[in-house]
Amino acid sequence: MVPFTGSFILVSRKSETMNQFGRWFIPPNKIRMTKIILALLAYSVGASPVIAQTKTVTANQSIERGKLVYQQLCLTCHQGNGGGVPNMNPPLIKSPWVSGDKKKLINIVLIGFSEKVAINGACYSNNMPSQATLTDQQIADVLSYVRVNFGNIASAIMPKDVLEQRKMIK
Ligand code: HEC
Repeated sequence: MVPFTGSFILVSRKSETMNQFGRWFIPPNKIRMTKIILALLAYSVGASPVIAQTKTVTANQSIERGKLVYQQLCLTCHQGNGGGVPNMNPPLIKSPWVSGDKKKLINIVLIGFSEKVAINGACYSNNMPSQATLTDQQIADVLSYVRVNFGNIASAIMPKDVLEQRKMIK
């Protein structure tokens, strides 16, 4: 029994070192390493949900702010329910322009839209004026808002995406 226990201790204490007094101890540098590894583990376990949560909160705040921009600016033409005004202003409901290519969508807001193209089979007599006086953040917010409303499902727009387009059209 005793030799068996001894060998068990030997195996389990493989990483420990014997000092000159013949006592088992863990060298201080190993203790420090263990502490760092434990701290990193605790951080990654604890921090990843926090980071994910923060991202969701930030995205939700952007959409909330975007709703206000929409109400102040876009609503007059595109209406509160995104339905637009027949023959004048197109609907944003399930719009391929809204949920499609980010760059094209950002350009519509930055440059305006006066192409006489059919939008879902109908033409609209009004022109959309440029909204370039909005900040990158405001444009990102309002577009992120319309991209998850009025039956559209698309990813958020970031201020850096807007900045990129601003540089392109200058
Ligand atoms: C003065 C009225 C007016 C305002 C304000 C306005 N739009 Fe428009 N918008 C239009 C018109 C008109 C068109 C279509 C132009 C055309 O057919 O040439 C259009 C087109 C669009 C399109 C592409 C077509 C579609 O139906 O998906 C999007 C997207 C859009 N607008 C988003 C916005 C957003 C977002 C805002 C607010 C930041 C806004 N618009 C403000 C009048 C307006």
